Amino acid sequence: MPAYDPTIFEGAAAHYRSGRPPYSQQLEAVLAEEVGLDGTGRLLDGVCGPGILTLRLAHLFQEAVGVDPDAAMLSEGRRAADDLGIARVRWVHALAEGLPEVAPGPFRLITFGQSFHWTDEARVAETVYDMLDPGGALALIVHTVEGRPKPQSPGPPPIPHAEVRALVKKYLGSTKRAGQGFAPARTHRFEDVLVRTRFGPPQSLFAPGIPDLVRDTESVLSGYFSMSSSAPHLFGDRAEDFAREVRELLAARSPDGVFWDWPGDTEVVLARRPR
Ligand SMILES: C[S@@+](CC[C@H](N)C(=O)[O-])C[C@H]1O[C@@H](n2cnc3c(N)ncnc32)[C@H](O)[C@@H]1O
Repeated sequence: MPAYDPTIFEGAAAHYRSGRPPYSQQLEAVLAEEVGLDGTGRLLDGVCGPGILTLRLAHLFQEAVGVDPDAAMLSEGRRAADDLGIARVRWVHALAEGLPEVAPGPFRLITFGQSFHWTDEARVAETVYDMLDPGGALALIVHTVEGRPKPQSPGPPPIPHAEVRALVKKYLGSTKRAGQGFAPARTHRFEDVLVRTRFGPPQSLFAPGIPDLVRDTESVLSGYFSMSSSAPHLFGDRAEDFAREVRELLAARSPDGVFWDWPGDTEVVLARRPR
């Protein structure tokens, strides 16, 4: 696991909430049912970014704690919590590898949304096992397209991802970037790591994705700027040129300026601590 590079999401935080497609609308219900959430206990969102999961799930607990090493992400989370009037959240500026000291347990649920891969997975899994209530669970949450049934577009054209990615390549080169270096190649699944920890083999659950998600041009562009592989800092003084080319491409593909997005179903890789 390479050392944490604080520039991986530099400039991305402001784009994250408007640029990332939401998880399934049934995610709360699935987690509440599976883990027996009833408004008591505590949530730890282990890599919270701008608090997407932290704020969606906070009402299911007495207290929620979000941990992230990126101060700009935490500011976005705080701002969204204020806007939504959610007070029961504590934000911690730290790496997941700083657990348990940075956010001592116990917790009923510990989540990692599109983020466990950024951590030292085996070490963090073993650490959080000891931070869970007996009967509590670790939930690794991602969008999954592969193998999932794809719905029909409600009308607008799909986001032309292949063409936008070609523009990213034109500006940043063909090797996927991340921070000051390149994105590490991924050769394993979360399951492969968890099975070798005290959690043992996890369960995989699917909550249906939003079939008719429609996004505008600025949201699509923000989605790209929200990713470590096309974060604003990577473009340097050419960020505006890239944005202009993406806007031109999107205008040509959808004169109405709206696109259908299918991020997939929401997959929950759930690992439990026995009672
Ligand atoms: C893709 S965002 C995840 C946001 C959010 N969890 C969600 O569901 O959308 C990834 C986040 O990982 C954070 N990150 C990267 N390495 C980390 C580490 N070792 N420990 C904790 N957070 C880390 C980054 O600061 C960034 O905010």
